[in-house]
Amino acid sequence: MRRKDFIKRLGYLATALPASSFLLHGCAGLYYASFAEEEGMLRISKGEFKQIKGKKQIERDFVVIQSDSMQYPIGIFRTPKLDYTASLMQCTHRGCELNIGGGIYNCPCHGSEFDRSGGVMQGPAEENLKSFPITTDNEHIYVHVS
Ligand code: FES
Repeated sequence: MRRKDFIKRLGYLATALPASSFLLHGCAGLYYASFAEEEGMLRISKGEFKQIKGKKQIERDFVVIQSDSMQYPIGIFRTPKLDYTASLMQCTHRGCELNIGGGIYNCPCHGSEFDRSGGVMQGPAEENLKSFPITTDNEHIYVHVS
């Protein structure tokens, strides 16, 4: 390889590394929970919100589930009152798949932000996220998808 080509490739690498680092960081906090799919319903164990860090058990603020029957994942947030919200992670602006960061949904395409319940916080999106009703019992969360 000629020196000029090497320097050119090094330049591309230097440009690409920060971008890929950002992408990896953006996805690093997503936990994809196990779930069972029943008729029109996704059942998730409440234990999926528990996480062991060192010797401590802590609670996750949210988990993500990806069903084969749905094109986009569903984010499930846990509120301090132990209620849950479930929203389709599809941006209502132009349909990009959302990320979760800083306790909210954010869109990598044009910067829309949605709160934990799927409400628009910042445009260009104008409509709230599609949300799903949730019921719970002592051990499980049921997301009603139909
Ligand atoms: S697609 Fe999400 S802000 Fe445009």
